[in-house]
Amino acid sequence: MYPALLTLFPLLLAALAHKEAKTPEEKEIQRSLRNAAYHCAPAVGDFTSARKRAFAQRALGQTGQPSLPAYDELFAQETLQGIDGPDGDFLNCAPVQDTQIENNTCVLAPEVTEGPYYHNRGHPIRQNLAEYQDGLLLLLDIGVIDVETCKPVPNVLVDIWLANATGHYAGHPDPAPHLVTEQPQVGGKRSGLLSAFPRTNDHETFLRGAWATDRNGVAQFTSIFPGYYTGRATHIHTKVFPEWTLHPENSTFTAGRLAHVGQFFFEDDINMAVDKMFPYSQNPIRDTRGRTRNWRDSLNIFDDSHLNNYNPVFKTHLLGGVISQGVIAYITMGVNMSASYPNYWQG
Ligand SMILES: *[C@@H]1O[C@H](CO)[C@@H](O)[C@H](O)[C@H]1NC(C)=O
Ligand SMILES: *[C@@H]1O[C@H](CO)[C@@H](O)[C@H](O)[C@H]1NC(C)=O
Ligand SMILES: *[C@@H]1O[C@H](CO)[C@@H](O)[C@H](O)[C@H]1NC(C)=O
Ligand SMILES: *[C@@H]1O[C@H](CO)[C@@H](O)[C@H](O)[C@H]1NC(C)=O
Repeated sequence: MYPALLTLFPLLLAALAHKEAKTPEEKEIQRSLRNAAYHCAPAVGDFTSARKRAFAQRALGQTGQPSLPAYDELFAQETLQGIDGPDGDFLNCAPVQDTQIENNTCVLAPEVTEGPYYHNRGHPIRQNLAEYQDGLLLLLDIGVIDVETCKPVPNVLVDIWLANATGHYAGHPDPAPHLVTEQPQVGGKRSGLLSAFPRTNDHETFLRGAWATDRNGVAQFTSIFPGYYTGRATHIHTKVFPEWTLHPENSTFTAGRLAHVGQFFFEDDINMAVDKMFPYSQNPIRDTRGRTRNWRDSLNIFDDSHLNNYNPVFKTHLLGGVISQGVIAYITMGVNMSASYPNYWQG
């Protein structure tokens, strides 16, 4: 778990930073450290600001802030020297060949999985998708590898969209008027599903956004944990565009070739914990239909996305000591970079 790693991390760094690894065990530790450092880099940034905030609060005379010892260790002078030092390949420059992108890979069949809530225009280019949506802090670390070369792919646009804490997509707040009392379909392929909510406004853009992968093939986002809606297991949608045109005047883009469409899931354990938290606990279907478990996902999407041993479930770690401090989620998408799919829903 993440907190355990945090406590180990400075000690190991201090032990290894200025010493060349010789034995296989040392090499293995160094390798895992590099991976840890690489994966921790975004979290370290967040911890830095958290620590800065805590420091500011102390400086402003507020007492009784909870003390977070791991932060102090992580940012002890020796640790920082290990990270930022002259040979500082821990945080800055983990070479791509040393980057062990998380082995939770997903390659999904397109069309089936895009769903009805994508907007062809107006997805902002940004890393923070949350706007003013309330919910559990979720940091996403999404790696992209090319399934044909097995190499990480830099500079491709990862576009994601998800439902808010009470199960609504931006722009689709209500069911169509004549379907307000619709009941979920019983039996058949669409068992458990309702008709899609129509798009009734253009001004909502929360929890939609796209960002290009960095030189290590990773795109990172700040979001909230998704809520659930009738018939579907908790999920996040994604598309990957190797080509796109940026509109700097309004920070949106026009999509070029679409190479991948998919969905990510979470372990049911964490879904269950989040269910109980406010405002997820205010989900309007909580006491009637409840959250759909992964194994009951409609259209068989969860099961289908596990074909060929691919695993579309995030690896998650707690960001702090308790879940309400946030969650960091890692996943890697295997994408066929030569593929080209139509950029609209055919379901
Ligand atoms: C993922 O890692 C596990 C354990 O390290 C290994 O057994 C499995 O084959 C790997 N899966 C893929 C798709 O590489
Ligand atoms: C953003 O700007 C582009 C180029 O001017 C335009 O085509 C597009 O409609 C704008 N999108 C939004 C959501 O305003
Ligand atoms: C989710 O979005 C809907 C539609 O905009 C809104 O009515 C609802 O209050 C939002 N949920 C939360 C928890 O903010
Ligand atoms: C990738 O897509 C190209 C173009 O559609 C196709 O020819 C190739 O077989 C695909 N490769 C894999 C590994 O699926």
